[in-house]
Amino acid sequence: MVTSILVRAAAMLGGGREDLRIRDGEIASRGSLTPERGETVIDADGLVALPGLVDLHTHLREPGFEASETVLTGTRAAAAGGFTAVHAMANTSPVADTAGVVEQVARLGDEHGYATVRPIGAVTVGLAGERLAEIGAMARSRAAVRVFSDDGLCVADPLLMRRALEYVATFGGVIAQHAQEPRLTEGAQMNEGALSGELGLAGWPAVAEEAIIARDVLLAEHVGARLHICHVSTAGSVDIVRWAKARGISVTAEVTPHHLLLTEELARGYDARFKVNPPLRRDEDVHALRAALADGTIDIVATDHAPHPSEAKECAWAEAAFGMVGLESALSVVQHTMIESGMLDWADIARVLSEAPASIGRLDGYDAPLAIGAPAHVTLVDPTAARTWSTSDLRGRSSNTPFAGRVLPGRVMATIHAGALTVSDGEVVDAAELGTKEGD
Ligand code: DOR
Repeated sequence: MVTSILVRAAAMLGGGREDLRIRDGEIASRGSLTPERGETVIDADGLVALPGLVDLHTHLREPGFEASETVLTGTRAAAAGGFTAVHAMANTSPVADTAGVVEQVARLGDEHGYATVRPIGAVTVGLAGERLAEIGAMARSRAAVRVFSDDGLCVADPLLMRRALEYVATFGGVIAQHAQEPRLTEGAQMNEGALSGELGLAGWPAVAEEAIIARDVLLAEHVGARLHICHVSTAGSVDIVRWAKARGISVTAEVTPHHLLLTEELARGYDARFKVNPPLRRDEDVHALRAALADGTIDIVATDHAPHPSEAKECAWAEAAFGMVGLESALSVVQHTMIESGMLDWADIARVLSEAPASIGRLDGYDAPLAIGAPAHVTLVDPTAARTWSTSDLRGRSSNTPFAGRVLPGRVMATIHAGALTVSDGEVVDAAELGTKEGD
């Protein structure tokens, strides 16, 4: 097993170029370093060194939906995208609503070694929205769950939401709400507006998202709890989160890469690769989301990586599943939308894709990025690379990317998770090289 890696001449976020020595899972030294015998040397000339990326919203599908993704294939996709930790959503089968399931998911992540897998616990039993799940047992389990969500479904009952917020507040947890008023979105297929009328698809009004966010920030204030809003998609939602933060309410929010780039116009071709929950919105919404990420109203980017088998996407729009894969493309889309537009710099990228999601998830090891003695979670990106995105750039099990055919900048050349190379020369290393169990 290689225990020492020398990263040479990487561009550091504080400015300047430095060598980094990684030994026994930690950043051992920085500066101008001389290679040692037996050390793996990575030439990082021209590459930007970022802290390992952290996704707060990943669907790994295991247990139960292994035809779409597994912990192994999903964490390989994560590594390819520069991620060293993912938070695995609870809508599996069985649902991650018990200590047993969350411990199993975390253990699979540890065994494979491509990324830290932090399970998200369900808020309600079976995601049914009727009774609280074993929140305390999941929090106290070896998986030490801190984020709870019924994602895919909204915790619509206000009393249940209140009780869930009160419960997680006792141990510093957070409820990640999928804000979708169910009665206002029955049968909804795409953003509600002139275009949904023209296309004959049932509309999904912005108010269905905004009404839940407004309710829940007030509930979080009332009980003094932490609330996180999943995949914010409308300009109105941004206004409510901004108002809540100004009032001192403990709310955080995420935006997905696809909502930073794509609009409802893509529904015109009835190509279900563009069908997602919440739906792609209008140009005005995309601009509001970018501005909110730039000014800190939206705290983080989270992928909502949602793999689906081809038969669930290559069918009539109304029958197709909601969701898009996004782990491999996230950093490139954020570079394209936020750096190329001058709205964020690479230090901001480290904040919105690593430090802040780790902090919301109460994940240790990401608060002193690339500092000597810190755990070695490192992503090396070539910002000058560009490619026409295609399904051959994906490393997970499903191919439902909405970005195929688009030219996207940037390429992850190396990912280091806990001192081990998971991506080398731009390719995911195989399980034997990683020194973990083979196969899935
Ligand atoms: O598009 C989506 N797909 N949005 C969600 O909230 C759930 C996800 C899934 O599980 O497929």
